[in-house]
Amino acid sequence: MDKKLRAILVGCGGISGAWLTPIRQFDDVEIVGLVDLKPENAAATKARFELDRAEIGDDLTAMLKRLAPDLVFDCTLPEAHTKVATAALSCGAHVLGEKPMAVSMPEARQAVAAAEKAGKIYAVIQNRRYMDNIVAFRKAVTDGCAGRLHTLNADFFIGAHFGGFREVMRHVLILDMAIHTFDQARHISGQDPLAVYCHEWNPPGSWYEHGASAIAIFEMSEGVIFRYQGSWCAEGMNTSWECQWRAIGDQGSMLWDGRETIVGERPIARQNLVSPVESFQRPIYTHLNHQGHAGVIREFLDCVRNGGRPQTDCRDNIKSLAMVHGAIKSAEQRRKVDLSSLADDLVCGS
Ligand SMILES: NC(=O)c1ccc[n+]([C@@H]2O[C@H](COP(=O)([O-])OP(=O)(O)OC[C@H]3O[C@@H](n4cnc5c(N)ncnc54)[C@H](O)[C@@H]3O)[C@@H](O)[C@H]2O)c1
Repeated sequence: MDKKLRAILVGCGGISGAWLTPIRQFDDVEIVGLVDLKPENAAATKARFELDRAEIGDDLTAMLKRLAPDLVFDCTLPEAHTKVATAALSCGAHVLGEKPMAVSMPEARQAVAAAEKAGKIYAVIQNRRYMDNIVAFRKAVTDGCAGRLHTLNADFFIGAHFGGFREVMRHVLILDMAIHTFDQARHISGQDPLAVYCHEWNPPGSWYEHGASAIAIFEMSEGVIFRYQGSWCAEGMNTSWECQWRAIGDQGSMLWDGRETIVGERPIARQNLVSPVESFQRPIYTHLNHQGHAGVIREFLDCVRNGGRPQTDCRDNIKSLAMVHGAIKSAEQRRKVDLSSLADDLVCGS
């Protein structure tokens, strides 16, 4: 095997464990540096994951110059993502970063331009694409098990008490969580967003300062209507973190509970008030070798080594981010938002 890829991981907080667990199992990558604004977090991560050879520090730019890594893994907070990505790309590193890619569309475009200029990969963790059950559900949709898809619904209800940055973040549900679901909707439907109408609110008794609940309706590029409803302030009867999905086509309907269960029914005759139906089985699909964060990280490493672009390359992921910022703009201005203007030079539907 070629020599190991040398990586710096920035942001040694809660999510970094979901990265370091698989990274330690991949034998073609090595963590050579850990950076955090709080050096004690970097030191604790070094000890916990037994990264004996990793330097620790609180200054990414200085460490980039000193270690000249092949890769930077960005696990910092959303506001820091663009700054971390552009600094790393300008030093010649490929970057894989946490979602959301950026807190605004101008910042996202800045990061895409930096990746283009550097000729490096900047990809985003959308771990909810890399699960056996979404692969199976997507295959059922694209195989036409329910006919031609025209409607896609996703429900997300989890009363999550995180503490920390989320409780004071503006548009917290849409920006920090719904990015996953919006990206999943693009993945399942194979379509890109054209327009959105969104209503956002903070329910009475919410422990968030802003926007813990939202409903959004998207018009997608080949006519699918995607309806999202979610809340981080709904206790009891929780959905899965992957959402509860309904896909409706012109020949039937399918449900995925976001866990193991995928079921579908289609009419066997058009008669009576409600047509008699038959159930259908989910299709055979190829299981993934790596799930969740491990799947995104493995694909990124393979593209760095062998060429090609990961599914979640910034040039694609910015379309999922446009759904987020379009929904936020719609909620703020209480009107339907055209995403082609928001996404600017993006080619929707490509
Ligand atoms: N993909 C997922 O399923 C998933 C799940 C949870 C969190 N996340 C994302 O991961 C990111 C981090 O979330 P978290 O829950 O780990 O937050 P956290 O607050 O637990 O950790 C963030 C860490 O980054 C450090 N940090 C912040 N800004 C920095 C900077 N500019 N330079 C260096 N270090 C910096 C903080 O000191 C802290 O140690 C967020 O973008 C969040 O949305 C993703």
